[in-house]
Amino acid sequence: MKDEMNKLLDWYHKNQRKLPWREDLDPYHVWISEVMLQQTRIDTVIPYYQRFIKNLPTISDLASVSEEKLLKLWEGLGYYNRARNLKKAAEEIVLKYQGKFPDDFSTILSLPGIGLYTASAIASICFSKKEVCIDGNILRVYQRVHNCFDSIDLEKTRKKVRADLMKIIPEEAGDFNQALMELGEVICIPNGIPKCHLCPLSSFCKAKREQTFMMLPVHSPKKEKRIQDYTVLVLKYKNFIVIKKRKEETILKNLWGFPMISGKYSEQEVLQYLIDCGFGYKRVEKGMDYTHVFTHLKWRMQSFIIELDKKYSNYKWVDIHTLMNKYAIPSSFQPFVEEIKTKKNTF
Ligand code: ADE
Ligand code: SF4
Repeated sequence: MKDEMNKLLDWYHKNQRKLPWREDLDPYHVWISEVMLQQTRIDTVIPYYQRFIKNLPTISDLASVSEEKLLKLWEGLGYYNRARNLKKAAEEIVLKYQGKFPDDFSTILSLPGIGLYTASAIASICFSKKEVCIDGNILRVYQRVHNCFDSIDLEKTRKKVRADLMKIIPEEAGDFNQALMELGEVICIPNGIPKCHLCPLSSFCKAKREQTFMMLPVHSPKKEKRIQDYTVLVLKYKNFIVIKKRKEETILKNLWGFPMISGKYSEQEVLQYLIDCGFGYKRVEKGMDYTHVFTHLKWRMQSFIIELDKKYSNYKWVDIHTLMNKYAIPSSFQPFVEEIKTKKNTF
């Protein structure tokens, strides 16, 4: 066991990547990076992380940021409630802990939006607490090393892996967690053949011995995603486009998008709809189709680009540059923004 642990930690000390949040062990930095890393790959996270910290250098800056600015900084990362929870937790840290990130595991875990994974990551990396973090990378490495075919989507499996690793976690708890995560990201990779010849665990890995690594980890059968059809209306007048803030009770609430109607409308039906709403139009063109996949949901979207006959009041009109620079547009609408950009001079 000691031998395995030394090999793993040695490997990490020699091979760890230089990452901006590893420069210091500031819990604010580690917290933000870990929340971003839960949903997005490291290469994508780095520029988001740097922009975030530059704009909000301290916990109290985060506590007092406007939701508008926060969402713009988070634009494209998805899971926007995570950003809102960061702000809530920052408010709590300012209010209850004088702006200083707490170092006690259960206090960290009690903060809004901080679950077992994030709390363990911060506690181990910043405060050397012996808490194991369980993420997809660690689960994959563990199941392969043990040649274990239990589904990693089951809470039972995750609990067992955590309990097992809690028995062996060394004093260097932060390095241990990060070594396993990093091993999963660069050596024992999720898509493709793992690089066993470079792996510090290869001499005792059962999946390598049995050649079963491509069958692991096992997942539970996926639930079918719900499909919703939408017709997106890109309403234009000269250089201006109508955008709409999404309602409080919807998915992507408070982010900005385009007006859209439920269902797949034909061009004729769209024109009738516009007339019924009291709009006059000059020109209509079929825009792109795009399907966006969320965690539990699929939006199958088609679009029409419609040149209206005037700049109707009561709508939010913006030019394309203001749209891109000032408003948080989720990824589900980005392809339409791109299309507007490329067609700017032709329509
Ligand atoms: N993935 C998520 N968090 C990580 C970390 N701290 N080190 C390496 N990979 C990670
Ligand atoms: Fe993964 Fe191969 Fe290392 Fe086993 S030996 S943990 S399968 S990379």
